[in-house]
Amino acid sequence: MKGIVLSGGSGTRLYPITKSFTKQLLPIYDKPMIYYPISVLLLAGISDILIITTPDDVHLYKKLLGDGSQLGVRFSYKVQEQPKGIAQAFLVGADFIGDDNVCLVLGDNIFHGSSLVDRLKEAVDNKKGATIFGYPVKNPREFGVAEFDENGKVIEIVEKPENPKSNFAVPGLYFYDNKVIEIASGITPSYRGELEITSVNNEYIRRGELNIVRFGRGMAWLDTGTPTGMLKAAEYVETVQERQGYYIACLEEIAWRSGFIDTDQLIRLGSVLKKTDYGQYILSLANNIDGGK
Ligand code: G1P
Repeated sequence: MKGIVLSGGSGTRLYPITKSFTKQLLPIYDKPMIYYPISVLLLAGISDILIITTPDDVHLYKKLLGDGSQLGVRFSYKVQEQPKGIAQAFLVGADFIGDDNVCLVLGDNIFHGSSLVDRLKEAVDNKKGATIFGYPVKNPREFGVAEFDENGKVIEIVEKPENPKSNFAVPGLYFYDNKVIEIASGITPSYRGELEITSVNNEYIRRGELNIVRFGRGMAWLDTGTPTGMLKAAEYVETVQERQGYYIACLEEIAWRSGFIDTDQLIRLGSVLKKTDYGQYILSLANNIDGGK
């Protein structure tokens, strides 16, 4: 399975912060925002990852992440010339996807929770159709929202509904079979001129091939759409890391635990960053003083 991180958009909701800088490289506590969605792909076992960014910003992402070889994975890059919607990722990324299935994660979505890895593995194993997620929120109007029938079966996803039919928002994490390229080519732009991911999901519903998995109480899906959301997300990360001593979205750790890199390489990566707590954490993993978790 291939992975795509979509890091486009103009970030207008965070102006002036994002007037001259790409949103998904802003810090969430101690690491760039994009580390969090990349960590989700790595945790799903996906090591071939396309990062789609704006033409202006692609060099910044390359400087941060390189070709991925340092982590034993592959990062490649494509630009979305104009922000024409999330579903455009499958057209921009069609050659990259090839004949594979694909997982798309939005570059500003943060997930954390003990059941996450199991849910990801199930979604990867579900080879036919689409798997998306539902997450209860207090403010569903700001998202794509799932509507269910009396049997709990999803009947429609509505983008930013005036009158939401449930409180289950659809997070920016989507697993699709290869038909997604054809489906994304066939949808028409919405009133805001975008190829909506919600249109793709509704086409999978129409074909009877959309599986929606509800995230339960123990999962965190954090909002980074506003300054307050970013601050709260940073506080969440700081709280968990300080309490447990385990880092959220430490790419070096995940690559090492996934067997993408060996301990020597982990030490090399930690040594470069050793002036920081982040680097010291990486080195502590290699020294096995973390209880082996
Ligand atoms: C997008 C999607 C929406 C989804 C959300 C998750 O909204 O259109 O369906 O719920 O991402 O972050 P946007 O952030 O582009 O407004």
